[in-house]
Amino acid sequence: MSTKIKAIGVLTSGGDSPGMNCAIRAIVRSAISHGIKVYGIHRGFKGLINNDMEEMNASSVGNIIQRGGTVLYTSRCPEFKDKEVRVKAAQILEDRGIDALIVIGGDGSFKGAIALNEEFNFPVIGIPGTIDNDISGTNYTIGFDTAVQTATEAVDKIRDTAQANDRTFLIEVMGAQTSSIAVKVGICTGAENVLLNDKEIDYKKISSDIRRGLRRGKNSSVIIVAEGEKPGRSYEIANVLENSHEISSRVCILGHIQRGGSPTPTDRFFATVMGVSAVEALVEGKTQNATVVRDGKVMIAPLSDCSSKSDHAMKDYIGISESLSI
Ligand code: F6P
Repeated sequence: MSTKIKAIGVLTSGGDSPGMNCAIRAIVRSAISHGIKVYGIHRGFKGLINNDMEEMNASSVGNIIQRGGTVLYTSRCPEFKDKEVRVKAAQILEDRGIDALIVIGGDGSFKGAIALNEEFNFPVIGIPGTIDNDISGTNYTIGFDTAVQTATEAVDKIRDTAQANDRTFLIEVMGAQTSSIAVKVGICTGAENVLLNDKEIDYKKISSDIRRGLRRGKNSSVIIVAEGEKPGRSYEIANVLENSHEISSRVCILGHIQRGGSPTPTDRFFATVMGVSAVEALVEGKTQNATVVRDGKVMIAPLSDCSSKSDHAMKDYIGISESLSI
């Protein structure tokens, strides 16, 4: 197929997520098959404004499909909100002869891509990548499945020791602004309670749930806590439970372990299909779009659909978790 695009840039931005490497591999190899050069930009938008990039070839992405992290490195780049910084970025892209940019990241990274497109008419495609699964317009983001799997395995392990020692555990999972991981992991592990990051904690309910369990012979409980603004709020919750409700507990913060590790087949599959679809979208002349998953299928949608947060009604499932932990 003939195309006006001769060279594209690709970057990963924000928190890394398992499966980003699968998307990078798919982009590089698919672009090469269309006769398009690919520049791998290091450390997200920071690398772009520092002109830190390298041309990639089929071998640069060999043996990475199974690896977590991102071979392009990543960073958060608040300075990209500044118009002057974006002017510099657009100039670097032009000087390098790059005709389009693929941004793999979250809704914040997409906002930067949209600005580049609107201000400089520069073609951009977004690929949703974050373990939080909190981007509007797509039911799936690369890395969520692996993060949920990692956290589920960890909670199962903690259950063993909780049961052996008659203990209550508060297990904190990631998600600064969305409780998607907490809700899904809570359901998958049969947690006794799930504490969302934007809802006041009902200590009386937690305490009566635990006591009801004890009365029917349950000797241990697991409470999943969405981390909220910053990791560690579980320690405060444990203190209140101990001091005001006479419930002693142990705290385990899963933290960044949830961001690493080999991607699951689901993450590998969707990341790969999204990578190929992103290149095809550019070849077809799409200029401000995203690869999304809707009704289980990868499709192309306007990038502006994906520039805000959504928990995809995950919180609606919390009732299921509560109704079963009796
Ligand atoms: O990438 C998303 C995320 O992992 C959130 O779940 C978490 O709250 C946040 O990033 C942690 O960010 P950082 O790695 O910058 O501490």
